[in-house]
Amino acid sequence: VWTYKPSIVDPIVELMELYESDARADKVNLGIGVYQDNDGKTPIFAAVKDAEAILFEKETTKTYVGVGGDAQFVKRLGRFLFGDAADRMLGIQSVGGTGALRLIGEFCARVAPESRVWVSKPTWANHPALFASCGMPCESYEYGKYSADRLLQNIIASLSGAKEGDFVVIHACCHNPTGIDLSEPQMAQLAEAINDKRLYPILDAAYLGFKNSIESDAAALASLMQRFDTAFCAFSASKNFALYRERVGAAYVKGGERAKLGEWRELLLSLARSNYSMPPDHGASIVRIILEDERLRKKWLGELAAASGRLRSVREEFAKCLTKAGCGFSTDYIRTGSGLFCLLPLSEQEVRQLRVDNGIYMMKSGRVNLAGLRDAEVERVAGAIAAVVRSRARTAIA
Ligand code: LMR
Repeated sequence: VWTYKPSIVDPIVELMELYESDARADKVNLGIGVYQDNDGKTPIFAAVKDAEAILFEKETTKTYVGVGGDAQFVKRLGRFLFGDAADRMLGIQSVGGTGALRLIGEFCARVAPESRVWVSKPTWANHPALFASCGMPCESYEYGKYSADRLLQNIIASLSGAKEGDFVVIHACCHNPTGIDLSEPQMAQLAEAINDKRLYPILDAAYLGFKNSIESDAAALASLMQRFDTAFCAFSASKNFALYRERVGAAYVKGGERAKLGEWRELLLSLARSNYSMPPDHGASIVRIILEDERLRKKWLGELAAASGRLRSVREEFAKCLTKAGCGFSTDYIRTGSGLFCLLPLSEQEVRQLRVDNGIYMMKSGRVNLAGLRDAEVERVAGAIAAVVRSRARTAIA
């Protein structure tokens, strides 16, 4: 007899399915974290198309590449992200950024079975489930939802419950779901606190390139990594190369001496082998080709910069329209935030009302994917949100 509890995959996936099944033409998708342009499309970068043409021309076999994936991809990407420091790190290709987190989580559970992992509250909906599946007890540290005030102090205070050897997940940039990041000096202070408590950081780098330029976001990641003797990084190419369905990512680990890294590499490879055997190649080859080719690299950087520039202007416009429509809360954190997301101070019931009455789909936590807002819709969406908040005030008075 099988025993199981039916459960939804996770709220992000649930919302994606709900949106797909809505027949309304004017529905608005502010759910899953996928970049969309001003036509509501998630385009393939021209640099990716060019790289695919090269791959199509040059590829001569589809035989296995290996458990650790394409070594040149891992090396090129490692150099791009961490510069010379990459030579003292180990890296293996993974099945997207989630696959990298999963490998790291299983690795941590094996080498430190007594340890726990700390994630921010709130965090990406899949973090707790992912680490729990690895057998790691998950704890959370406080994270501001609508303001960066006292963010660092609150994080450090709530990490006081962590014990030596625990792991801490830090969003490298573009915090999911709040869009609120620590400044670089604050990150340095957090690193110091983590080191003082002898905790190990797991840097989740899923949105590099959506805060500032990808070079500058990667430089911030590299300088953070430098502050630790032992650290993990899960990189995702889903958003910054717009390669979502190709599942491209990599896990990097920095650690003591070379011999240790060799052993750790063996363990990661054995975990990969027993999970999925070998990662897919197509997307990783595309990334490698782009990083190897000066012309394609420039083209990709330009396209990525345009996508993240659009997000910045949507932030400005959305914040402005919400205020103009009388939303009644400060929208500064939306304007100054980074990446795809922000949280709105709405109840689950209000989020539901916006979906049912207006066809506006956002996570029940109030998380909005700003890329889902087309210029022509910002005012209408902001107006609907403000109306919901105003009707709350009226209900309270009545
Ligand atoms: C999100 O948070 O919506 C993205 O990271 C996509 C996903 O897989 O959940």
